[in-house]
This record gives sequence, structure tokens and C-alpha cells, in this order.
Amino acid sequence: MAPRILNGQVEVRSHLGPNDERTLADDVLDGLTRPLKELPPKHFYDARGSELFDAICELPEYYQTRTERRILETHADDVVARTGAVELVELGSGSATKTRVLLDAMRDAGTLARYIPVDVSATTVHAVAELFVEEYEGLSVYGMVGDFERHLKHLPAPVGPRLVPFLGGTIGNFPPGSRRRFLRSLGKTLGDGGHLLLGTDLVKDPHVIEAAYNDSAGVTAQFNLNVLHVLNRELGADFDVDAFEHVAFFDREREWIEMRLRATKPQHVRIDALDLEVDFAGREEIRTEISAKFTPERLRGDLAAAGLELVEMFTDPEELFAVSLARVASD
Ligand code: SAH
Ligand code: TRP
Repeated sequence: MAPRILNGQVEVRSHLGPNDERTLADDVLDGLTRPLKELPPKHFYDARGSELFDAICELPEYYQTRTERRILETHADDVVARTGAVELVELGSGSATKTRVLLDAMRDAGTLARYIPVDVSATTVHAVAELFVEEYEGLSVYGMVGDFERHLKHLPAPVGPRLVPFLGGTIGNFPPGSRRRFLRSLGKTLGDGGHLLLGTDLVKDPHVIEAAYNDSAGVTAQFNLNVLHVLNRELGADFDVDAFEHVAFFDREREWIEMRLRATKPQHVRIDALDLEVDFAGREEIRTEISAKFTPERLRGDLAAAGLELVEMFTDPEELFAVSLARVASD
């Protein structure tokens, strides 16, 4: 798609096209015909899904966002000084509220040149691009609407030392094998002397973790159920959304949260775009996301397996969350 020039300093390019409706269709066909039904999490984030996620970030039970922000506030100057970063390539940027902490630190250090948000949610990339180019004088913003698993090869060349924030614990949404493969692919995105800044939720009291995904206001439930609305709208499916319920529990052995949607009664669903009929038994579930929790050992192990080395891991006093600075391993 042709770049959309909004003014001299901001450009948003979309790498999503008709093929991506195909991707949704393929993912759904593949996921809902498995013996254990499953949907990949990136399809949560239509405009309403992105709004609901922002609401999750404000929930009293969802400690991740405010904790990660506090860690960034404490260490951003140090991160900027040590990396000499002049540009940020942010993966899964969403509404990028915590990113301001990094941009402020770069501006204060006098190094801030460019911000590249990458997200499948077109609405958030456009909103953030327009907001930040206004707010940060002289900043050049290059927004990428795309899938970070497929489109990072289209990133422009670095204009100087690059920092790649991947915040919000989104790395935990990959299963362990793909997580390492994805981290390895990020090595190439960093460029010469570049760094990754990775936010990960930490293993802790399971009750605290489970509460973060079962909020009392029911926002997480709405977010999880929203994916069925996406399927109804995009693929002409006829899910009775009210006949599914949100389920989230901490798998104590694998140390990850599993999000599922459970049919409250037997159901028959038709998906027009796939010419597919799907049956659900009463209480049958669709797995919609995992959210892995980390120990320092797991983090180091994953980075090492991906050819990366930990420079420093920053945490909060209660060790709820970690923000880790990493680079390509030297040997
Ligand atoms: N970084 C923000 C948002 C985290 S939510 C924060 O820390 O609060 C995860 C974000 O990643 C969403 O904005 C979602 O649209 C985006 N996302 C999920 N899968 C993606 C993919 N495969 N490619 C690009 N963006 C993706
Ligand atoms: N990356 C976030 C996390 O794992 C996404 C998230 C939060 C989420 N709450 C959710 C995804 C509920 C699905 C359902 O914490």
C-alpha cells in the first residue's frame, strides 16, 4: 500500500491487505477444526478490542501496566545513557502510554530522532503517530501497521543506535518454542549495537496472577469474548456470544495463564466465509491465549537460546514484573 504522508514528519504504512483476511480465515479454519479448539491472540485487537485492552490496563487487579511504568520511570535515563538510543522500534505498541517515559528520557538526553510503532491494530498506530508527532518537537514517526511475526523485514534501516521495546508481557503470549524462535528473529531487527527492552510478567503467588485475568468488573471477560464478535463480523460467523463464558486460570506446572472461552451449552456454529460448520459440546472450550510468567532463569535461558545476552534486568521492589535490556550475544 502507498505510504500515507500526514505531514513532513509522520508516515504510516500498512502491510496488511486482502491476504490478512486470509490469515484470519486460515487461523480460524486451522484452530477451530483441531481436537482442542484454539484461536491465536492477535485477532483480539480490532478497534473495540484495543479499547478494551486499554481498560484492562487501568484495572486495580491488572498490576502489570502500572508496575512496568514505574520500572521504566526509575530506569529510563540509565537505559538511554547505556544504549545511546536515537530511535525506538516498538513492537505491539498499542496506545503506547508507557512509551512516553522512554521518549521523554531520549528527549532530555538530546538523542531523540525517530519513533517506529508496529502493531496489527491500525487505529492505534494512526492515533499514536498523530499524537506523538505533535507532542515531541522534531520527532519523525514512521508507523507500521502489520504483524510483527511477518513484517519486520520491511522496517527501514536504523538511523543510529536502535532500542526495540517489546512491553506489556506480550512475549509471554508465544508458546515456549515459538517464543525463542521469535526472539532470535529480533536479533536482526536490532541492527549494529542495538538493544531489546523486554517486559515480562514474573512468577508469583498464583492468586495475584489469576485475579489480574479475572477482574471483578468483567472487562477481561468482555475482551476475551470480543474475538467471537470479530469472527461474526469478519467471517460471517453466527456465534451466540452470550452462550460463551470467560475462563482464565494459572497452570501451575507450566507457569502460564490460560485464557479460554467455554460454551455454556451445546452449540452449532456456521462460519460463512469458510463454508464451515463447527459443533461445540456443552462446556467445550476454545483456548484463546496463554500468558507465560517468567523467572530470571527462564528469561536468561530464552535469551541465550535466541543468541541474545542479558545486559540488565530491572524489577520493582515486590518483583512483580521485569524489564530487561538485552543485546545480540558477543560470540
Ligand atoms: N505495548 C502495549 C500493548 C500491549 S497489548 C502495552 O504494553 O500496554 C498487545 C499489543 O500487541 C496490542 O496492541 C496488539 O494489537 C499487538 N499485537 C498482538 N499481536 C500482534 C502481532 N502478531 N503483530 C503486531 N502486533 C500485535
Ligand atoms: N499481553 C497481555 C497479557 O498477557 C494481554 C492480556 C491481558 C490478555 N489480559 C488479557 C489477553 C485477557 C487475553 C485475555 O497480560
